[in-house]
Amino acid sequence: MKNLSIDPGRLWDDLMATAGIGATPKGGICRLTLTDLDREVRDWFKAQTESLGCTLTVDDMGTMFARREGQRADLPPIAMGSHLDTQPTGGKFDGALGVLAALEALRSLHRAGYETFAPIEVINWTNEEGARFAPPMIASGVFAGVYRRDWACARADRSGETFGAALDRIGYRGTQACGDHKLSAFFELHIEQGPYLEADGKGIGIVTGVQAMRWYEMTIVGQDTHAGTTPMPRRHDALLGAARVVEAVNRAARQFAEAVGTVGILEAKPGSPNVVPGEVFLTIDLRDPDAAVIDRMEQDIAAQARTIGAELGLEIAIKTISAEPAVQFDSGCVGAVRAAAEISGYTSRDMISRAGHDAAFVSRVAPAAMIFVPCKDGISHNEAEYSSKEQCAAGAQVLLQAVLDYDRQLAERYGR
Ligand code: GLV
Ligand code: MN
Ligand code: MN
Repeated sequence: MKNLSIDPGRLWDDLMATAGIGATPKGGICRLTLTDLDREVRDWFKAQTESLGCTLTVDDMGTMFARREGQRADLPPIAMGSHLDTQPTGGKFDGALGVLAALEALRSLHRAGYETFAPIEVINWTNEEGARFAPPMIASGVFAGVYRRDWACARADRSGETFGAALDRIGYRGTQACGDHKLSAFFELHIEQGPYLEADGKGIGIVTGVQAMRWYEMTIVGQDTHAGTTPMPRRHDALLGAARVVEAVNRAARQFAEAVGTVGILEAKPGSPNVVPGEVFLTIDLRDPDAAVIDRMEQDIAAQARTIGAELGLEIAIKTISAEPAVQFDSGCVGAVRAAAEISGYTSRDMISRAGHDAAFVSRVAPAAMIFVPCKDGISHNEAEYSSKEQCAAGAQVLLQAVLDYDRQLAERYGR
């Protein structure tokens, strides 16, 4: 195998150039899925991959697949990628690194004239973040047969626009049925988004799996009444109920060593200083490596919500909108990442991912694994999110080597 190297400068330039699409004053990115800014970065991705001679396929969930041919057109591609959408106060690296490093790996193959055995693809998954349309990873969820496409397309943002309408508006509803796209394997490079690699002084995380996570939507209904005239004992204050639910979620998670629980959205209606809030919408995100722990947190929160509702005279309804079990990645793909980290000379450690990723859903239908690089102070979903040029380059180099390692495994299996 030729000793191929990615170009750190080119990768960094792409990261900084695309960070300009939706740049925020504090140095982050706000590029919510299926917005005009998302269309702009998609158009950029399309132009880049087509200039490398790739064929672009877009599926009917808007996911983009840029394909470079190998020796064997009959084999499903080895894919790499991540997502180009961001959180409202997202950083420059969450998702973007995985797509742009994959693009850089592909460019390196192209410039070297290297012919792989299997075709190679770079993927940009739609709506990984779930910030605008819940749940997260909705397109890879449909791809893996976990969600129905029609259900996903009917999901609405907080203004009422549906995923399907937004997809049509930006012109990225493709013709291929989502899921009708076989992959030989999928590799996703990502910043760790947590503190462990940096604390351990390791350059590369060999990701063996992803912890379980569950999302819920809760509606609390009380009575909107006059803030000046309604005596305290006569109130049915939905926001007071919500405040107690927020406490209950925090307490439920703190009972367990590794569990986390978050209320990320809380909307009170009607939203006037002198009206007791009559209705609240909130979201709950629960995670733990063991799904049984999430069951216990869920039961605990539901019981507390019943008590809160009875005490304050509120109707509280909770709906599960996604439930992802813990995932173990494919040993062949994990092995390819380990070999790639070794051959590239980086220090590494095995770890699980605490964040959700498209690779978790993809692993249900194709062998998959992930590569992590450290990020400063473990901070992510924040405009200050940062990984250095060298750290990004290390991840991209390992990504390229892992794909080449897997390609060699396929060549051995199917005969060159
Ligand atoms: C993905 O961004 C997640 O919530 O883990
Ligand atoms: Mn991400
Ligand atoms: Mn994210």
